Amino acid sequence: MAILVTGGTGYIGSHTVVELLKNNKEVVIVDNLSNSSKDIVDKIEQITGKKCKFYEVDIRDAEDLIKVFNENEIDSVIHFAGLKAVGESVYKPLEYYDNNVIGTIKLLEVMKASGCKKLVFSSSATVYGDPGTPKYTEELGRGKASSPYGATKITIEEILENLYASDNTWTISMLRYFNPIGAHESGIIGENPNGIPNNLMPYIQKVATGELKELSIFGDDYDTKDGTCIRDYIHVVDLALGHIKALEKLEKPGIYVYNLGTGKGHSVLEIVKTFEKVNNIKLNYKIAPRRAGDLAEFFADPSKAKKELGWEAKKGIEEMCRDSWNFAKNAK
Ligand code: NAD
Ligand code: UD1
Repeated sequence: MAILVTGGTGYIGSHTVVELLKNNKEVVIVDNLSNSSKDIVDKIEQITGKKCKFYEVDIRDAEDLIKVFNENEIDSVIHFAGLKAVGESVYKPLEYYDNNVIGTIKLLEVMKASGCKKLVFSSSATVYGDPGTPKYTEELGRGKASSPYGATKITIEEILENLYASDNTWTISMLRYFNPIGAHESGIIGENPNGIPNNLMPYIQKVATGELKELSIFGDDYDTKDGTCIRDYIHVVDLALGHIKALEKLEKPGIYVYNLGTGKGHSVLEIVKTFEKVNNIKLNYKIAPRRAGDLAEFFADPSKAKKELGWEAKKGIEEMCRDSWNFAKNAK
């Protein structure tokens, strides 16, 4: 029996495939390569010494997806495929709804027709909106989306709940990620976005390699310990391991939701200073105005995942910063 991983050549997907293969799982990847490349499949093989099947398929193409299901015995699906750039989603809302929401509906239709009803879905802390408290527990429920990207995640969570309500033989796990950074310890896979990055760690990486001149720290006048924003950064390998635990839980039908974060908040300046310290590098940075839409502080309450999945993040920001640079200096 195989696990289908949509978006499996992407950042989080590729790290998850590595962990699945290490656990001797059979893996089939579908990815349209819109934000990744096929050489990731070779890199996964290089790290694990194991093979997985790859299909260059867009999940919105039902015919292609049906072929994948017909050619493989797929027992469960981990669904990463989607567009994820918050800023871009504001300019291209239709593309985001089409890719993320329609793509998920197509996938669910094909799964249903094939009798495969086990799904792990990549959701995001963004679904909480602005709940008025920095510590996010699953009980807070979904808030108001701050971007079309966020709206697609909220909509998909609602679709999945509706689907389960209509047929409770499904088993669905919605994982709300906080801020994934870091890379595989081998330095072979990691995050290397095209163009100018929006997120903090990829931007820091490009300043460290000299590809970008300086980092702008968006605001130092927040009501936080050093005035810069606080987030819950989680090592991508810890995040990948959360998916393995979530898959194990798919034995019993139900709909589950889990925060995947460390439970600890770190400021932008702490990340910058830690990156400099562990990698012995000086980063050029300046304090810039606040970025619209940023919240001062939020972090996960990860206790539900610990209690129910037996999962908790192990790696700290030192390892995250070291592994990010170990990857980025080779990827340049
Ligand atoms: P990524 O862009 O690196 O990976 C997504 C992969 O999906 C890419 O390889 C892309 O080519 C593929 N893809 C996109 N649309 C597709 C389609 N229609 N058909 C087939 N393949 C398609 O992103 P990531 O950081 O690995 O994120 C994975 C998932 O996790 C996304 O759904 C994202 O929204 C979610 N997420 C990411 C973060 C983050 O900070 N990285 C945070 C919360 C949630
Ligand atoms: C962003 C998205 C969020 C998404 C997440 C993961 C926004 C408002 N939110 O979260 O929906 O789920 O990415 O993809 O875009 N920072 C700088 N300088 C930079 C870049 C970032 O100071 O050049 C700061 C930001 O102000 C923030 C922190 O670093 O305080 C982290 O930023 P980022 O990596 O973009 O993640 P989020 O904004 O938390």
